[in-house]
Amino acid sequence: MDGHLIKELQKRRTFGIISHPDAGKTTLTEKLLLFGGAIQMAGAVKAKRAGRYATSDWMTIEKERGISVTTSVMKFTYNGFEVNLLDTPGHQDFSEDTYRVLTAVDSALMVIDSAKGVEPQTEKLMEVCRMRNTPIMTFINKLDRDGMAPLDILADIEDKLQIECAPLSWPIGMGKRFRGVYNRHQNQLYLFTPGGETRHQEGILITDLADPRLDEMLDSQADELREDVELLEGAANPFELEAYLKGSQTPVFFGSAINNFGVRELLDAFVEMAPSPQARPTTTRLVDPQETAFSGFAFKIQANMDPAHRDRIAFVRICSGKFTRGMKVLQTRIGKQVTLSNATIFMAQDRTHVEEAYPGDIIGIHNHGTIGIGDTFCEKEALSFTGIPNFAPDHFRRVQLNNPLKAKQLLKGLTQLAEEGAVQFFRPLTGNSYILGAVGVLQFDVTMARLKSEYGVDARYEPVSFAAARWVTSEDRKQLAHFEKEKYASLAHDSHGKLTYLASSLWRLDNAMEEWPAIRFHKTRELI
Ligand code: G4P
Repeated sequence: MDGHLIKELQKRRTFGIISHPDAGKTTLTEKLLLFGGAIQMAGAVKAKRAGRYATSDWMTIEKERGISVTTSVMKFTYNGFEVNLLDTPGHQDFSEDTYRVLTAVDSALMVIDSAKGVEPQTEKLMEVCRMRNTPIMTFINKLDRDGMAPLDILADIEDKLQIECAPLSWPIGMGKRFRGVYNRHQNQLYLFTPGGETRHQEGILITDLADPRLDEMLDSQADELREDVELLEGAANPFELEAYLKGSQTPVFFGSAINNFGVRELLDAFVEMAPSPQARPTTTRLVDPQETAFSGFAFKIQANMDPAHRDRIAFVRICSGKFTRGMKVLQTRIGKQVTLSNATIFMAQDRTHVEEAYPGDIIGIHNHGTIGIGDTFCEKEALSFTGIPNFAPDHFRRVQLNNPLKAKQLLKGLTQLAEEGAVQFFRPLTGNSYILGAVGVLQFDVTMARLKSEYGVDARYEPVSFAAARWVTSEDRKQLAHFEKEKYASLAHDSHGKLTYLASSLWRLDNAMEEWPAIRFHKTRELI
């Protein structure tokens, strides 16, 4: 066993933040980076957020890759830990991208707006975390405003997200009456001062809640805190590290990101409790991060970072061994040896060339259209990591070429964009057209713009009456053949040649599922 590798592993924490837009993810990210010394100034991360709701703005922002890329993966050090924070697109139309990013983390931080409780986007993201039992730490934000009662928020989380809550801190009042939090884990009281840009918040050690200092500091709210904590002792789940690591319990913290309150506490608990890089499944076996042979997989591809070079960067999560610049590895899907000479590591403000990197780290590899999402790179044996989901699209468009001579370019463009995960495409068994499928409609605009600028394709969309797509399989080959014959007009192949049923309505889909019990209708497909 390689002692150096183990040491490097133990200090790595790779995570993503899940939240509904506006809960405070960007603000929290910024404060975390301030603590990590990765940025010097508030406002640096926020700048990229502007105009997130308009397509045109989104495209402009995406063109300014300098900003968007450096914030896709942010690496910083804190208390001797190497923390990799993977950003997830805020706009729900790009949620598929978010799902994939979540396959590359070892844990997640969930941000909840105390006034809103659990919101839809959080529920969706949580489903993904549950698929992999990702450990989740929770930060309830905006305590400086009036919100739901803390116990109601916890009940909401437990009810909607089906995860046990273990409050490690507890708020003292909220809104105008917000006085701070009592950390039950450390027996420390943290007093709130609004507008705190300060990095250090000293806690006050209170080992016994009967301590009269509490009354001096909190007046009548001291008794409220005593009652709350007593209630919690009886009613709340005690924190269990094992349950957190299994993904069945979430430790909960309260604070106010904008006031930088509760953030350091959260970060301290995070580096202490969150898992270091974990073993990952491949089609053949589990790969332990301590294995000395290098392995990793691409979970995100970002195109046109430098439009002049038609450059793409594949973000690769290292799963085992050590990366060294210039190493030769096997790219399993295409069965070729490739040299990883030009890898980049992402810091919050800067990209730097990397000489070596370890499991949990994310490296960016220049890609000229040969790397697809989910591709595995490995040193010795041919491995293929699993667990990168592809979601059944909810929106559909037919692509029609304005210039029929560009058919070849269209196929090339769609194939590459599908490989990147920017959009999905289907070829109906009848006819000769392409149906594009997306999880969010903005993906269509981006696809069309990219087809034009990168592949010179002049095309347009036409509406189609599809409401759902499901990948279909069956152990019963006869039934599958029968199904294919009966539903020929509603079937298509996806970009990987997998059979897909395109339903014109959800009602029809339900009907087909009832009618064909031997056929399995899959909502997700793994890219392997
Ligand atoms: P997001 O990335 O999850 O979408 O959220 P973001 O951090 O951008 O925060 C959304 C809004 O919530 C922002 O206000 C932000 O200032 C505010 N916010 C974040 N944390 C707190 C908090 O602890 N308390 C309060 N009261 N507000 C908070 P905005 O008006 O949309 O933007 P801005 O004008 O402040 O930039």
